[in-house]
Amino acid sequence: MSALKLFLPLDSVAIAMGADDVADALQNEAAKRKIKLELVRTGSRGMHWLEPLLEVEKDCKRIGYGPVSEDDAVSVLDAILGDGRHDKCVGLVEEIPFFKKQTRLIFERCGVTDPLSLEDYKSHGGFEGLDKALNIDGAAICEEIMQSGLRGRGGAGFPAGIKWKTVSEAKADQKYIVVNADEGDSGTFADRMIMEGDPFCLIEGMIIAGVAVGATKGFVYLRSEYPIAERVLNGAIVNARAAGVLGDNIRGTGKTFDIEVFVGAGAYICGEETSLLNSLEGKRGEVRAKPPLPALEGLFGKPTLVHNVISLCSVPAILAKGAKFYRDYGMGKSTGTMPFQLAGNIKYGGLFETAFGVTLGELVNDIGGGTFTEKSVRAAQIGGPLGAYLPPEMYNLPMDYETMLANGAGVGHGGVVVFDESVNLLEQARYAFEFCVEESCGKCTPCRIGSVRGVEVIDRIRAGRDHEKNVTVLDDLCELMVDGSLCAMGGMTPIPVQSAVKHFPEDFGIKQKQEAAT
Ligand SMILES: Cc1cc2nc3c(=O)[nH]c(=O)nc-3n(C[C@H](O)[C@H](O)[C@H](O)COP(=O)(O)O)c2cc1C
Ligand code: SF4
Repeated sequence: MSALKLFLPLDSVAIAMGADDVADALQNEAAKRKIKLELVRTGSRGMHWLEPLLEVEKDCKRIGYGPVSEDDAVSVLDAILGDGRHDKCVGLVEEIPFFKKQTRLIFERCGVTDPLSLEDYKSHGGFEGLDKALNIDGAAICEEIMQSGLRGRGGAGFPAGIKWKTVSEAKADQKYIVVNADEGDSGTFADRMIMEGDPFCLIEGMIIAGVAVGATKGFVYLRSEYPIAERVLNGAIVNARAAGVLGDNIRGTGKTFDIEVFVGAGAYICGEETSLLNSLEGKRGEVRAKPPLPALEGLFGKPTLVHNVISLCSVPAILAKGAKFYRDYGMGKSTGTMPFQLAGNIKYGGLFETAFGVTLGELVNDIGGGTFTEKSVRAAQIGGPLGAYLPPEMYNLPMDYETMLANGAGVGHGGVVVFDESVNLLEQARYAFEFCVEESCGKCTPCRIGSVRGVEVIDRIRAGRDHEKNVTVLDDLCELMVDGSLCAMGGMTPIPVQSAVKHFPEDFGIKQKQEAAT
């Protein structure tokens, strides 16, 4: 008799919600009933409210049960062995609107395949991009990336093709690929999800990048809070080496590329690329002045291509399907897809991959279902702790780099953190400065000292002391930090602060004061 095959995520969110206990309960019950059970631990589909989501395949389609608890395991197993009916049955997983509305170019295998199975990876389109890349020269690969319009997904949105070309044209005896997997932004988890759920996608993207620019060694600088990603990624690297995909003579081509995972130092600033390089070299995670650009003098002074995880995970699809295919998704200069991460006070939180151009309202209300507390949405912070707070009046804005920039915001790493009407934006602005106090590397004065002064000024505004004067001081301080900071940590901390003042002045006592004056 063939084994009963079930799928259950090993993803951190699923495990936090009890997936390992569900796995044990299923195995115990199957053993008791002498049923042969093959439990495949996959990545997550990204629908967090359904985790742990147990799936069974029928007629080549997956039927889901979620959220399954340890106590549900026996009755769900009964249902699966019987007519399928159960309170926790959510039907065909790919028909769930949250999932069906997505365009999954990066996450197409996540939640579907066994993350450590190369066979699974290959049978679901894996290595098609690498095979193509191995048959053209480095310059042609760089050109494909340039034509795709891919921009860095770590936050700055810099065109990837320009960086690839710069590293590829640099002359050096050694070049490196460095993956920024520090994922420090609040409310973001796309990097973690793909590393846990489809690590070969990152490995493939890194090899293609290495072959393109002439780098033979890659490092993944991994956030220390991601032990599952570390285990899965290292397991996948071992399997890829054993299969001749990594190491010397990649797929018989004579080309060399290998990868090492480096667990990070646990500071937000180590996500900034030059701090990251210092940390990777074993030094204190302190920002380096630019120039020189890491593309020319990066890790150990050698030309280095630094990319966010999702940037590199976009590469296999670009090579496999072509730059034009990729570029046709998105809008304007924001091409391709972005995994938006819906978090905070939201009913349906999770990962939603779609083409740029989706509106914020669609993400927060239609897809995310509004707030978890069922109160009205008051604000959403876009793009991490250094991102803007936007009010619902702006939710008709399309999510693309240019529109966000024109409205004083940024796409960042695609995080959308939702707040209901109980949020106080003065407290959030204060928190932005506090965060900067904690996380500043301390190298430059506007950021190191400015953030401390920022907390003090906001406290004075809150207390109503010299209110008007302190509102002006707050604005001047923000301007000084933008103009005088060495990196975007100090340079962008004013964004959440100023957006809070601009869109929610009443929380700073500003509107009330004006009204009182009239
Ligand atoms: C304070 C600070 C923190 C950052 N944290 C991250 C991070 O956690 N992950 C990331 O990919 N990029 C982060 N970045 C952006 C990186 O400096 C860099 O732009 C990125 O790694 C480049 O890769 P990309 O072109 O693929 O986006 C951060 C930048 C700053 C200023
Ligand atoms: S802005 Fe802040 S984090 Fe960046 S270099 Fe200056 S002190 Fe360091």
